[in-house]
Amino acid sequence: MTEPAAQPDGIDALTHVFDAVYRGESPFGKRPPWDIGGPQPAFVALEEAGLISGAVLDAGCGTGEDILHLAGKGYAVTGLDLSSEAVAIARRKAEERGLDATFAVANALELAGYEGRFDTVVDCGLAHSFDADRLRTYAAALHRVCRPGALVHVLEVSDRGAAQMQARLAEVIEGIPASEPPGPKRTADDLRQGFADGWSVESVTDTTMHGILPPTSEPLELPAWLGRFRRN
Ligand SMILES: C[S@@+](CC[C@H](N)C(=O)[O-])C[C@H]1O[C@@H](n2cnc3c(N)ncnc32)[C@H](O)[C@@H]1O
Repeated sequence: MTEPAAQPDGIDALTHVFDAVYRGESPFGKRPPWDIGGPQPAFVALEEAGLISGAVLDAGCGTGEDILHLAGKGYAVTGLDLSSEAVAIARRKAEERGLDATFAVANALELAGYEGRFDTVVDCGLAHSFDADRLRTYAAALHRVCRPGALVHVLEVSDRGAAQMQARLAEVIEGIPASEPPGPKRTADDLRQGFADGWSVESVTDTTMHGILPPTSEPLELPAWLGRFRRN
C-alpha cells in the first residue's frame, strides 16, 4: 500500500501557503492585497527623508517592489523571502527593469550567512505575521545581520488596520469571516517589545499601508505602524 505523502508543517507549511499565493492559487486570486505593483508610499518618504543608507535588506520582500524602488535609487539591495515563487517574480522584475538587485530564498527567523552585512532593513508586512516570541527571534536575526547603528524600518498593519482589512476581505471573498481577524494584529507596544533587546526604539508612528482589494482593484489604505529601530 502506498503511504500518503507527508504533509509539511511549520516553516514548510508556511512556504507552501505563500508559494500558492504567489502562483495565484489562493482566495486572493491573481495577486494578494499587499502586492500593489509599486513601493509603499511610507518607504518612498523614508528614502526622501534620508533615512535609508548603504546596504539595504528586505527580509520578506515578496515580489520585490519596495527593494526594487531602492535599487533604482542606487542602494545596494538584497531581497529575501521564504517563497521561491516570490523570489522568481522579483528576479524577473529586476531583469525587466534593468536593476541591480540580489534576491534569494531565506527564512527571516534565521538569516544564516548574512551576518554583519546591512545598514538598513525595510519590512512591509512580515513582522506583523509573527507572535511575540517569533518577533523577538526575528529581531535577534536582524541584529546579527545588521552593522552597529543600522536602522530597521517596520511597516505593519496595526490592530485597527487588521480589523478593517478582515471586514473588507470578508465583503468580497466568500468564506472569509468578517469579525475574526486571524492574521496581522499588533499594537505599537507589541512592536516596541519585540525590538527591546539590542535595539533602541527611535519611533513608532501612525501611518497607512497601501493595498489592493482582490478580486477588485480597489485601493486600500489601512491603519499601520511605522516602527524605526536602531541597532545598538
Ligand atoms: C504580507 S507579505 C509582504 C511581502 C512584501 N514585503 C510586500 O509588501 O509586497 C509577507 C511576505 O513575507 C514572507 N515570509 C513569511 N514568513 C517568512 C519568513 N519566516 N522568512 C522570510 N519570508 C517570510 C512571505 O512569503 C511573504 O512574501
